[in-house]
Amino acid sequence: MIAIGTEDCYTGTVDRSGKPDPGRVGYNRMHMRRKQWARPELDACPYYYNDPEEMRGKWKTAFPKVQPLMLELGCGKGVSTSRMTSSNRDINYIAVDISPDVLGDARRNMAEAYGSEPDNVILCRFDIENIHRFFSKEDEIERIYIHFCNPWTERPKHAKRRLTHPRQLEQYMAFLKEHGEIWFKTDDDELFRDSLVYFRLCGFETVYLTRDLHKDGFQPNYVSEHEKKYTELGVPIKFGILRKTKDQLDFDPTRWRLTPGMYKE
Ligand SMILES: C[S@@+](CC[C@H](N)C(=O)[O-])C[C@H]1O[C@@H](n2cnc3c(N)ncnc32)[C@H](O)[C@@H]1O
Repeated sequence: MIAIGTEDCYTGTVDRSGKPDPGRVGYNRMHMRRKQWARPELDACPYYYNDPEEMRGKWKTAFPKVQPLMLELGCGKGVSTSRMTSSNRDINYIAVDISPDVLGDARRNMAEAYGSEPDNVILCRFDIENIHRFFSKEDEIERIYIHFCNPWTERPKHAKRRLTHPRQLEQYMAFLKEHGEIWFKTDDDELFRDSLVYFRLCGFETVYLTRDLHKDGFQPNYVSEHEKKYTELGVPIKFGILRKTKDQLDFDPTRWRLTPGMYKE
């Protein structure tokens, strides 16, 4: 894996209180420079929600228009998010990240992309590992975007922290609509290979799959900050669209572990 330096995108993980946990750094080392301006700007932002458990099941009411609702998990600075949301005003979006610093950038990117206050996007801060506390089936999420999540490849026991692990997929299945989709992009071969196994075990069917997104030319594709960096390093971007086919798992994902070589793609 190619390690990339990143000044202020937190790609480690957090402890239960939401504070960065330096003992659980996987993807990149944490080089987080606290942005003094980010929290005050977010606090003043009408479309920013910090830890919004009270919105569970009621997210549709948070937007002026009732439209399909989609989620982006780990949006980072919102480089691609702001392009996507401002180009698709007939869709409502919720973009989630754990880091207020990157969400501060995402807010600024939104302001630039829209020129005025967006009415179809909400920025949210919470730990996606606990996403069941924030969404329920009443929210009828049509699609989830997961772009360049932490691969957690350093130690096998860390795989359960992946945003595509069955522990997470079980939570997403509970609020994704019937036939709802996950759009998943990564630079990481191991994460991609394992995630395809996770998706299949959890009953997701493959709608589209490529190991070189840019060569295949799939559209629409909004290039994210990490996607741009890895592409410039010559790493092909892996991408899949996976469709939900069932609501519940028939195994316990908290006890389950992928045995290397046991499953074929
Ligand atoms: C590698 S960055 C990718 C950012 C963006 N999607 C992109 O493609 O450029 C991963 C992002 O996920 C966020 N993240 C990682 N684990 C998270 C968690 N458990 N809950 C919420 N956000 C998380 C990080 O803060 C970071 O901004």
